[in-house]
Amino acid sequence: MPALFEPFTLKDVTLRNRIAVPPMCQYQAEDGFVNQWHQANYAGFARGGAGLVIVEATAVSPEGRITPNCVGLWKDEHIEGLSDIAQRIKDQGAVAGIQLAHAGRKASAHRPWDGDDHIAENDPAGWQPIGPSAVPFGAHLPRTPTAMALADIERVKQDFVAAAQRARKAGYEWLELHFAHGYLAQSFFSRHANQRSDQYGGDFEGRSRFLLETLAAVREVWPDNLPLTVRFGVIEYDGDDEQTLSESIELIKRFKQQGADFVSVSVGFNIPDASIPWGPAFLAPIAERVKKEAQIPVATAWGVDTPELANQTVENGQLDVVMVGRMHLTNPHWAYYAAQKLGKEEPSSVLPASYAHWLQRYAPSDAR
Ligand SMILES: Cc1cc2nc3c(=O)[nH]c(=O)nc-3n(C[C@H](O)[C@H](O)[C@H](O)COP(=O)(O)O)c2cc1C
Repeated sequence: MPALFEPFTLKDVTLRNRIAVPPMCQYQAEDGFVNQWHQANYAGFARGGAGLVIVEATAVSPEGRITPNCVGLWKDEHIEGLSDIAQRIKDQGAVAGIQLAHAGRKASAHRPWDGDDHIAENDPAGWQPIGPSAVPFGAHLPRTPTAMALADIERVKQDFVAAAQRARKAGYEWLELHFAHGYLAQSFFSRHANQRSDQYGGDFEGRSRFLLETLAAVREVWPDNLPLTVRFGVIEYDGDDEQTLSESIELIKRFKQQGADFVSVSVGFNIPDASIPWGPAFLAPIAERVKKEAQIPVATAWGVDTPELANQTVENGQLDVVMVGRMHLTNPHWAYYAAQKLGKEEPSSVLPASYAHWLQRYAPSDAR
């Protein structure tokens, strides 16, 4: 059996294989509500054979959305639609995950295909973003956020807690806190974005505080037997990489002490002009270092996108789970494709019987 198809158990949850669909925003929601687009999208990924399907960045408050069309869990009315999605994912044999997010200073933007830039200040479709300090991201996101008062910090932590409780009510079994990609939590840890002089800024302890307190508060309400995970940008590619990486690993050790079970290793994205060395599986060696030094299971995404590469990263112990994003957009049955490519016995068995039966002895004419 290829390593990619070995099951993976974390707490009381077992993934049928190591293939995960990472959160990918669809920008199709209205007032935070999911609709038939989301239902079909997530059911399709689960049907295709992945072990874990994580629902896109789901805002813990209206101001925490990236765009007006982001999914939300800031009110109880949002639970029903997200619960249908969780059920569809589970019906297809995958584990249902969800990512909770607050976009911070990157909030109030147009959808990527409508420009990806901040909505103009005088446009009623937008809102005033908040952040650790009144420091803009820059480039296409130039709006200066309002620096959060201590009461704002407390409120956002409670928003994460309430959203986590709703996620559980909706039936999700794998919770991912979005502490990456320059959004609110990541920006608290960043020296580029956080210039506070109070207990939530300054040195390592100060810049870590918001993330650790949010994680601890969520852990109190998220069941002990289910995975609580963090997506975290461990490196910025700003020239200070060793310092950021060693601080990040120190913080991940603290995440673990506060009850985090797993880390999805990513990039900080706190500055617009980072020199990111894009390439196949470029974060896998960094994820491996996190795994070894922090002693925590890890995943990563970003170009781990051929079956051979994905299998290799699991086989050689770099990754526990592989996040395969855009390849699932090209082929929601990517797990089936990987099973064929890696010579897994009865590859069609990763699909439901309604498909698998017809594919058992079928080789497309262009493959003959
Ligand atoms: C359409 C799209 C939406 C995304 N939305 C999110 C998101 O909601 N949360 C997140 O952490 N990353 C998001 N990402 C990043 C992906 O999770 C993933 O890291 C990225 O696609 C790289 O992996 P890949 O090379 O396998 O595609 C998104 C990426 C894409 C393509």
